[in-house]
Amino acid sequence: MEKKINKLGVIGAGPVGLVTSAGFASLGNEVMCVESNQEILASVSAGRVPIFEPELEDLVTECIQSKKLKFTDQTRDVIDFAEVIFICVGTPEGENGKADLSQIDSVGVDIAKNLNSYKLLVEKSTVPIGTHTRLKNIMALHLKNDVQFDMACVPEFLREGNAINDFFNPDRVILGIESENSRQLLSSIYKDFECPKIWTNPATAELIKYAANGFLAMKISYANMLADICEVTGADVEPLIEGIGQDSRIGKSFINPGVGYGGSCLPKDVSAFIDIFDQHKVNNGLLKEIEYINRRRPEAIITKLKSSITDLRHKKVAIWGLAFKPNTDDVRNAPSLEVVRRLIDEQVSVNCHDPVATDQFKRAFKENIGIRFVDDMYNAAQDCHALIILTEWPEYSSTNLDQLKSKMARPLIIDGRGIFQLDEVHRAGFEYKAFGLTTNKN
Ligand code: UDX
Repeated sequence: MEKKINKLGVIGAGPVGLVTSAGFASLGNEVMCVESNQEILASVSAGRVPIFEPELEDLVTECIQSKKLKFTDQTRDVIDFAEVIFICVGTPEGENGKADLSQIDSVGVDIAKNLNSYKLLVEKSTVPIGTHTRLKNIMALHLKNDVQFDMACVPEFLREGNAINDFFNPDRVILGIESENSRQLLSSIYKDFECPKIWTNPATAELIKYAANGFLAMKISYANMLADICEVTGADVEPLIEGIGQDSRIGKSFINPGVGYGGSCLPKDVSAFIDIFDQHKVNNGLLKEIEYINRRRPEAIITKLKSSITDLRHKKVAIWGLAFKPNTDDVRNAPSLEVVRRLIDEQVSVNCHDPVATDQFKRAFKENIGIRFVDDMYNAAQDCHALIILTEWPEYSSTNLDQLKSKMARPLIIDGRGIFQLDEVHRAGFEYKAFGLTTNKN
């Protein structure tokens, strides 16, 4: 039997839209992606990806060359081309933690005005429960013809820095649908994915995305709470985490304590999830505590620093790691923003190092007075009274500790990601403070 070639549309060439476009195109589908920002459009059409995401640029270029992937700035082109359209626009944090749905709403208006035949519209963006109904209502107001369409929700679980691997090897695919036609179309598109497929309704699919990210945030905040009790009781967080993680019901992933979670998803999704519970008047105390624990982590770094250096004025401190996690240049909600801000408030001069995120940090942290950006990690520590580690980049874990110590004015490490073993840093002559160690009390 001849293989059916699906014609797919993608709205938005941000990280999710680009990975979805290139991922489906490389699986043999024909994909057209619409992007209204002319600068981004020009860049991606030429195969240049404006974000740091391993393997993505090569995949986009390959798909453009094989003519499986095209870009346009007209929604109309995508509607004429595709039967199934994936909505991949941003849903940033809006007022009072609510998800800002303005981009979703304008996509609804735009599609409705141009709709001329049956389409399946698939939400891939993270959207509050009920957004599929909201989109249907918006579209009903703007439809010009009496055309049929279906809504579905297939939430995206891509991790930054690992997005291509996550696209091709998902743990599961969630398919929230309302019609048999949607089931057939999505079955064909997802036939090459061998992972479990969970078919449900759109409201449940929308909820699953928040429930998953809320749970991941909960694991991290729980680990951070355990680190805090370790510090005052003489318990050691590393064997503690190993001890609970070996229970297969708990598992070892996502329970590393440290300076907390950042990025474009977990913080915004936990806030939006809190708002969703508020709107429906359902108790959300647990979610609020997850967020509260996380918000306090950057301040805890400053407290650790001050327990060694009481008066921070005119001292010099090095920061290693500005990105919210390794393998990305993203600094959105990165703990580094808050830690550096607090250090500047304390009149500290700060030397920052990050292998890739320096430019993004400079853009995000507008007042750069008192900050130096240094290309070499050892030179960043020159004459510093302390080194603070905020991202676990691999090169930091293989530090030559003797070389580092020879540079510093005072051999003090505040490790926000727990990358060193206590005995190795002590052997090298450092004073060492990390989350979950009783030595913090020294
Ligand atoms: C997350 C989800 O993992 C992904 O499924 C979703 O689609 C988008 O949000 P991402 O934002 O890329 O992905 O980052 P992730 O790898 O989940 O890490 C989030 C934050 O948690 C990082 O700041 C990381 O340093 C922190 N983290 C993670 C911890 O502090 N401890 C851990 O044990 C794990």
